[in-house]
Amino acid sequence: MDANDRSARGFARGLTNYGDRDFARYLRKSFAKSMGYSDELLDAPIVGICTTPSGFNNCHRGVPELVEAVKRGVLAAGALPLEFPVLSLGEVFLSPTSLKYRNLMAMDVEEMIRAQPMDAVVLIGGCDKTVPAQLMGAVSADLPAVQLVTGPMSTGRYKGERLGACTDCRRFWSRYRAGEIDATEIDAVEGNLAVTAGTCAVMGTASTMACMAEALGIALPGSATIPAVHADRLRVAEATGRLAVRLVGSQLTPAKILTRAAFDNALRVLLALSGSTNAVIHLAAIAGRAGIVLDPAEINRLSDETPVLVNLKPTGDFYMEDLNAAGGISAVMAELEPLLNLDCQTIAGETLGARIARERGRYVDRAIVRTRDAPIDARGGLIALTGTLAPGGAILKRAAATPDLLEHEGRAVVFSSLDDLAQRIDDPRLDVAADDVLVLQNAGPKSASGMPEAGYLPIPKKLARAGVKDMVRISDARMSGTAFGTIVLHVTPEAAVGGPLGLVRNGDRIRLSAAAKRIDLLVAPDELARRAAEPTDVAPYEPARGYAALYREHVMSATDGCDFDFLQAVPHPG
Ligand code: FES
Repeated sequence: MDANDRSARGFARGLTNYGDRDFARYLRKSFAKSMGYSDELLDAPIVGICTTPSGFNNCHRGVPELVEAVKRGVLAAGALPLEFPVLSLGEVFLSPTSLKYRNLMAMDVEEMIRAQPMDAVVLIGGCDKTVPAQLMGAVSADLPAVQLVTGPMSTGRYKGERLGACTDCRRFWSRYRAGEIDATEIDAVEGNLAVTAGTCAVMGTASTMACMAEALGIALPGSATIPAVHADRLRVAEATGRLAVRLVGSQLTPAKILTRAAFDNALRVLLALSGSTNAVIHLAAIAGRAGIVLDPAEINRLSDETPVLVNLKPTGDFYMEDLNAAGGISAVMAELEPLLNLDCQTIAGETLGARIARERGRYVDRAIVRTRDAPIDARGGLIALTGTLAPGGAILKRAAATPDLLEHEGRAVVFSSLDDLAQRIDDPRLDVAADDVLVLQNAGPKSASGMPEAGYLPIPKKLARAGVKDMVRISDARMSGTAFGTIVLHVTPEAAVGGPLGLVRNGDRIRLSAAAKRIDLLVAPDELARRAAEPTDVAPYEPARGYAALYREHVMSATDGCDFDFLQAVPHPG
């Protein structure tokens, strides 16, 4: 038997290359014995546990306990659990932005799955970029894998009000900027926004990606929404460990689960959830690893047919712990059943249709998960835009927008970079009115800022104090999944590579039409050509070395998921 053949099991897989395989096997086993395992376990199949605890990741504080529960499940099912660390990305602790490191983490995950001797792998992630990074890496590593998420935070309380990160963080900060609350009050709120282990308590990016993992079929049914601190979270971790053992030797690799039909299902669920705009980037990146292209036109077709069913913040009233108690993703998928591809295989070994049939008749709280006949909105929460300002596409969270601004034409007020924005947005002399369109340039993937969640441009202080709550805001940046407003994001091509966004000047007219799914810069092409030939005062971002240089060179557009070009699979039509 070829020791590097995939038919090898456990410690016999992927031997270190000394030019003598028997010696490599002997040496490995003697070192493994130093860990105190019995021969019986050393000869068993191995389930790797890809873990992400970190002192810089509060959301993953509960991961060590989850690891123990997964190990229980693996041992009970007769295999050897071995945890291994990979990068951990704590959203608010990374500069310039966590997205920049998602691909680095995906490479870490892929290479460590491939390089170490394991027969299946459990991926434990949670905070925004960690789940997409693990799924991207696992698809490319092509080993049976199952996702387990940390689960969401529970809510805090302040003066009788429920609070959850981080929609309420933004709500209170907006009130502070508008002068409605003072510094003492904002300080008091600070300690009640994120009060337990787990990911942000609303339908932000982390929650959305957890739900996407379940909707794609690569996490156990019901596992996305269980609160981080609930005992069920440990039970589902144990069950995930048992499942991983059943996957040993199977052909059920991530690419078999993550098919085009499964991505259509996930997009339907995303739209019904009014989930995070960031999920569009991450799903495109995960799909790209499987050779699947997510077409913006297809997103719009699904969006026009898929109702918003779930009443969660940032667009609704409730929190993730409420969605879990209301029936979770099971309730959402049951309601979407006629729109879903029911033949999709799930990691649990059943089809999606069998799952929905098995779960039929369960309790659903209709205040939180509506029926198809009485939806929150008849159309999906997100739409893809195109037009002269974004020939390669852009995203608008329709459900989070002010309805009156969805059809809007206004005068552009332009900020050439994040620094420029920070310096001038609150300047009392800024020439800006409520019906203007705020434009931020040079915040896309290839910019120095690395596509931060800066698309939620603050309302200029003088307008906020006058009661203005929302304006049309446009950028090549992203937006936190916990934010809201009439905000056009991910404009492609980005300003830093010469996109029309970089050619907008103060006073230009811009027209947004959600009905036509267009975003247009109303400037003649010859004028744009003239501006393109002008020298720019924004210094080009050209890092000389290291990961920053690799990133700048190889990161693709938001429409392509911001993956590295050299990591994508070759697209296939099916
Ligand atoms: Fe980790 Fe929000 S900061 S999920």
